[in-house]
Amino acid sequence: MASKIDETPAAPAGGLCTAVVGLQWGDEGKGKVVDLIAPRFDAVVRYNGGANAGHSVVVQGERYALHLIPSGILYPGKLAVIGNGVVVDPEVILQEIEGLQARGVDTSGLVISDRAHVVMPYHKAEDELRELALTAYGGNPVTANGAPGAGGSIGTTKRGIGPCYADKAQRATAVRIADLIRPDLLRQKLILACGIKNPMLRGLAADAGVEAPQFTPDEIIAWATPLAERLRDSVRDTTYLLHDLRAAGRPILFEGANAALLDVDHGTYPYVTSSSCTALGIPAGAGVPGSQIAEVIGVVKAYSTRVGNGPLPTELHDATGETIRQRGREFGTTTGRPRRVGWLDLVAVRYSAMLSGATSLAVTLLDVLSGLPRLRVCTRYEVPGGEPSMTDRFIPDGDLLAEARPVYTDLPGFTEDITNVRSRADLPAAARAYLDLIEEVVGVPIRLIGVGPARDQVIICDETSGG
Ligand code: IMP
Repeated sequence: MASKIDETPAAPAGGLCTAVVGLQWGDEGKGKVVDLIAPRFDAVVRYNGGANAGHSVVVQGERYALHLIPSGILYPGKLAVIGNGVVVDPEVILQEIEGLQARGVDTSGLVISDRAHVVMPYHKAEDELRELALTAYGGNPVTANGAPGAGGSIGTTKRGIGPCYADKAQRATAVRIADLIRPDLLRQKLILACGIKNPMLRGLAADAGVEAPQFTPDEIIAWATPLAERLRDSVRDTTYLLHDLRAAGRPILFEGANAALLDVDHGTYPYVTSSSCTALGIPAGAGVPGSQIAEVIGVVKAYSTRVGNGPLPTELHDATGETIRQRGREFGTTTGRPRRVGWLDLVAVRYSAMLSGATSLAVTLLDVLSGLPRLRVCTRYEVPGGEPSMTDRFIPDGDLLAEARPVYTDLPGFTEDITNVRSRADLPAAARAYLDLIEEVVGVPIRLIGVGPARDQVIICDETSGG
């Protein structure tokens, strides 16, 4: 409710930047946390990922999925900034703009970096074909803890994310937003890109046993020109824009997409996305130095989920997993895929909190665990070898992690409906013990607790009492 939201801590004085980042494999409920605190900021900024991310927002009672536009757009007068580190699918962003406008949302605050890269139709074709070809070659053998092992596909969202970031690194064939609105330059780039992509797509399609889509510069220009015209007025140098805001003392909120364990450097490689998903991605993806980020809110779902392939050490393949999936509505916002579900993995969360320098935690979806007789929390891994050994350190290598077995600390469950609880002290003792264990193992205080999907179904913890 408005009164509760008003109690959310203001951006700290001095450092004016706050970040909200996911500490697991995505879908932690970052959108809800951003939505809750956004009123305190003048700009909400995306710095990584693309239309692979997705969060639901409720606009005039209607649920609406946003993939690219920061949810700050829902607040009149705020800037919703897409930084240089984001990869932008022009069709998706225009669909989002139109969907919001049809519901009466003013989208004039949207600003897109001229240096953000464009997801082109051939990127999506390549993403799809690579996944098919990898599946055809791979095999995905199942490992000790039931997770898919080395080989096989990544299980991407097929939104063209990886191929677009690969082109960014390759440089010559990459198309940035600034190029999209310069027709002559765009044509030159597309002649190069089509020349290189078409044979590559034919090769992948042959491996996958399907027909190869082929692209011509003229077709792509015909597709891109009207999209570029509609985006033109939103395109700016967002790095200077953000520094000007900072210099004027106006607070900025950075909204991380995807999550730490999907980070291309620090996640469960190769089963990751292609961008920097932690707070470490902000300097490169928005041009704002890390020294300016005073507050990092790490969002942790009360259990684990993952979509796509790759290890999830605490994965549940039983009725408890199904109960959590149904109660938590664990189906992807972007792809609709059922999410894999597991117990909370605090080895993973502590690692992610360390990487992002989390200053507080927001624990989401705690209500989903109500009714489970026993709660399990992974606090260490057993690592196979000549002599199996224990570790409390995360293993950021997808194939090695797939061999690790979770070691659990068990706690009693709680049966009470907590969706109307608004103070940590009023939670059942077992729920409080669960939260206390999270704080103890991660070493970071919990400031927000989600107890239901609505904006006001949140407990804002008192800094002084810790509860
Ligand atoms: P890509 O980002 O489409 O290349 O997919 C790479 C991996 O990251 C796949 O396992 C996806 O399911 C996963 N992924 C990407 N974005 C998200 C997200 O926002 N939430 C959850 N998983 C994601």
